[in-house]
Amino acid sequence: MNSKLSKVGVVGAGRVGAAVANALVMMGVCVSVVLYNRTKDKAEGEAWDIEDAIPLLEECDILPTDKYEDFADCDVIVITIGAQASEGQSRLELLSDNADIMRSTIKELDRVAPDAILIIISNPVDVLTRIAIKTSTRPENLIIGSGTVLDTARVRYQLGKLINISKQDANIYVIGEHGDTSVIVWSNALIGAIPLEKFSLPQGTSLDKIKSEYVENTRKRAYAIGERKGGTSHGISTVAAQLVDTVLRDEKQIFTVSVKADSEYKIGEEVVLGLPCIIGKKGIERKLHIPLSEEEQSGLEHSAEKLNEAYESVM
Ligand code: LAC
Repeated sequence: MNSKLSKVGVVGAGRVGAAVANALVMMGVCVSVVLYNRTKDKAEGEAWDIEDAIPLLEECDILPTDKYEDFADCDVIVITIGAQASEGQSRLELLSDNADIMRSTIKELDRVAPDAILIIISNPVDVLTRIAIKTSTRPENLIIGSGTVLDTARVRYQLGKLINISKQDANIYVIGEHGDTSVIVWSNALIGAIPLEKFSLPQGTSLDKIKSEYVENTRKRAYAIGERKGGTSHGISTVAAQLVDTVLRDEKQIFTVSVKADSEYKIGEEVVLGLPCIIGKKGIERKLHIPLSEEEQSGLEHSAEKLNEAYESVM
């Protein structure tokens, strides 16, 4: 796929969907965006607002629509539909509302764009990705949930800032549930190519202190943003646009997306949660295995249990 000729769909023109469309245009990811909303006026309002800036950016067409048929020749489609967490609400609490919406959306997309790669960012993303995999006729590698990509970015941001290095050199993953049981994999963290455990930290801090603070900060970040502005949108939208870009450019970058766990993780092979994978033009091209400490392994098992319970509750 040549990203310069690519067409990307966005399902839902709410706060998050509109921000995804805007991020795709601002980042120059594709030449055409199809922005779908049940209410066409809303799709038009957002599309027109974004398109006003195109003379200042790279060329791109934005098509607002209320017809799934307009997704027909999209290479990648980002799914943002469903209720968003209101103040203090956990992501799993959205499941009963969003499970049916996800099933019907996937059926429509299977009908009109059976070969497109789907990127799911609706919450609870791990459970909804599992529902999408179960519902869809397309191969599982074409269905990518945004998983713990944002949680990973959140930890990298904190760590990079603390150490005063580029956040891209803070190499650490967050895995498991995108939510209250996410697991930071400290045992494999690297600063550049230096193990974090051997890296000299700024005076007045210690690895233990960082560990306890970052777990809380990362898990609570979306709640903290929600309390202040009613819900998150920019962080997750950039994640979505970056995943689209990685697919279209076949970059083979590693992201902790929502996937079925390999047997090596010993948590059952049906549960879907955030794990490191290589992403390219075939979607999820390879699932990677990251060695875990005992504590991290039991954290991942806890995530898996919670996500399995949530999935069973809507089957
Ligand atoms: C967040 C939402 C996307 O963590 O779950 O910002």
